[in-house]
Amino acid sequence: MTRKLKPDIYAVGAIDWDARLFDRLIPLPDGTSYNAYVVRGSQKTALLDTVDPVKTHVLLNNLVDAGVDKIDYIIAHHAEQDHSGSIPDVLLIYPDAKVVTNPKCKQMLIDLLDIEENRFMTVEDGQELSLGNKTLRFITTPWVHWPETMSTYLPEDKILFSCDFFGAHLATSRLFVDDEAVVYESAKRYYAEIMMPFRKQINSNLAKISDLDIKIIAPSHGPVYDQPDLIIRAYRQWASDTVRNEVVVAYISMHGSTAKMIDHFVDALVERGIDVKQFELSTTDIGKLAMALVDAATVVLGSPTVLIGPHPSAAYAAFLANALRPKTKFASIIGSFGWGSKAVEQLTGMLTNLKAEILEPVIAKGDPKDTDYAAIDRLADDILAKHKAAGLI
Ligand code: FEO
Repeated sequence: MTRKLKPDIYAVGAIDWDARLFDRLIPLPDGTSYNAYVVRGSQKTALLDTVDPVKTHVLLNNLVDAGVDKIDYIIAHHAEQDHSGSIPDVLLIYPDAKVVTNPKCKQMLIDLLDIEENRFMTVEDGQELSLGNKTLRFITTPWVHWPETMSTYLPEDKILFSCDFFGAHLATSRLFVDDEAVVYESAKRYYAEIMMPFRKQINSNLAKISDLDIKIIAPSHGPVYDQPDLIIRAYRQWASDTVRNEVVVAYISMHGSTAKMIDHFVDALVERGIDVKQFELSTTDIGKLAMALVDAATVVLGSPTVLIGPHPSAAYAAFLANALRPKTKFASIIGSFGWGSKAVEQLTGMLTNLKAEILEPVIAKGDPKDTDYAAIDRLADDILAKHKAAGLI
């Protein structure tokens, strides 16, 4: 299915309705899409990105549908295979096409896809490529989310082709954003799972595109934004230093002791006017947990002790939070043990990427007693005081 964005600009990518896991890691509750675009100028034709190899046949059919009998340039914004994976097939069918990308991405494409060196044309930041009556201006936008990522601005139509930047894992038959709330949710999930570790670089890239007159943002996952303010404002907010008066509680319990403590803790937070998002780690969607980490001021992990250390599910949550580098300001641990525990030391040792102050943990021996519940109330008071001092309440 080929769809027209504007005269001589077509969406020729693939919708992957059935995808449920990305990179064998990230849940995709609403599927995804691998967007690719054809820009037909008066003299030359460019294909911007390709699709995941599982959907190569869709892209090739769409190119036929769109009447593309010649491709002069294949613009590779990003070497990850969900966008570059069909380049070798396109090169076979369009033998005169050149792969246009930056030097870093070129080398990665050679490493990942074994593309011959003579098929490339490299471009630098700010360089323009004329298609006749349309111009492609390349803008390096590094670390969204690999080091080689770049975007393309088409000044005649005021379109920014941003690849993963501003993307959303969302399969939809609508070409343009229809339901803003749904797209916001998918885009936030995408930001949390893919972009959040690169907050600083995202701010630099937002500044870099701020002078462009952008009427449309066409990313390589999810729908196209014809009101780009929606996603630009959301990215500014997510990537800012601002956090919310909210505690993310991610816990698991084996025999109920940790669960009782978490129940008491969550009630204590709510009574103090603090928002809570609670996740049970054996059943939770890790994407939802990642989204909650985007702007919560505080994270508290709850874990029983297994073989001296934390429950593996709690360790996984700590590892994930550490890798995603949220802007969390405060963290703590609630847990229990039967006969000995190094769970606190091991969990805090896994959170070194977080620039969070660790508030005094609460660990119960066996079933929680009155003293443990009092300690939990003290932790809730500590969090309240910290949130107040940070101006969040
Ligand atoms: Fe959608 Fe980083 O690839």
